[in-house]
Amino acid sequence: MRKKIVAGNWKMNKTLSEANTLLAELDSYVKTNNPKCEVVVGIPYLYLANAKEKYENLNIYAEDVSEHQSGAYTGEISAEMLKSIQVDGAIIGHSERRQYHKETDEQIGAKVKIALENGLTPIFCNGELLEERKSGKHFEVVKKQTEVALFQLSPEEIKKVVIAYEPVWAIGTGETATPEQAQEIHAYIRSLIAEKYGKEIADEISILYGGSVKPANAKEIFSKPDVDGGLIGGASLNIKDFGALIQTYSDL
Ligand code: PGA
Repeated sequence: MRKKIVAGNWKMNKTLSEANTLLAELDSYVKTNNPKCEVVVGIPYLYLANAKEKYENLNIYAEDVSEHQSGAYTGEISAEMLKSIQVDGAIIGHSERRQYHKETDEQIGAKVKIALENGLTPIFCNGELLEERKSGKHFEVVKKQTEVALFQLSPEEIKKVVIAYEPVWAIGTGETATPEQAQEIHAYIRSLIAEKYGKEIADEISILYGGSVKPANAKEIFSKPDVDGGLIGGASLNIKDFGALIQTYSDL
């Protein structure tokens, strides 16, 4: 049985005191409600160490990681550093990193690999742009992103990866993929993995949907058979919405 996961992605939001308030609320939410899904929060680097020390009911993730081991890379944070403060994982290849920081599929693949080598769970993001969807290229785009970044991994390694399909046109726009669109492409991604690594491994990998998931639309999306949870941006920034999303999935 693959894991059900509700993951937040705070992006570049929250001051220290705001971060502590929300983490404390979320930690106590999970402790009290004991949801039947894993709860992950991707938070800015500088809050990670404190969060790992204080909030034991949460899975604490970074929002990125360097593709390099160590050395002269000013401003970067390595997988080994994240491991040394017991961070659980990292979001890798988010479309905002691809778009604003020009990350390539090859770099993203290197990040996934180094995260795994350091015992971090990568949430590998893929997804097409609006023009690519409109011209019917979404399958092709997602195939290339997935193959280049992930298909260098051994079967043992790929089993530990979580995938987040996030159509770029649905991120922060209020527009979501329909549950049918999400199911179609999630099943396709799973079929790519099955072709390369076999059905048993493909069936073990959690594939999350991301892009304007809100309490009002989550149930329909989370109900689809190949959707194993969500990667949530805007609605992870307050306990009311994020708690409602966790509850919705836990109740399914
Ligand atoms: P959103 O962001 O939920 O605000 O659309 C999702 C994401 O970028 O991970």
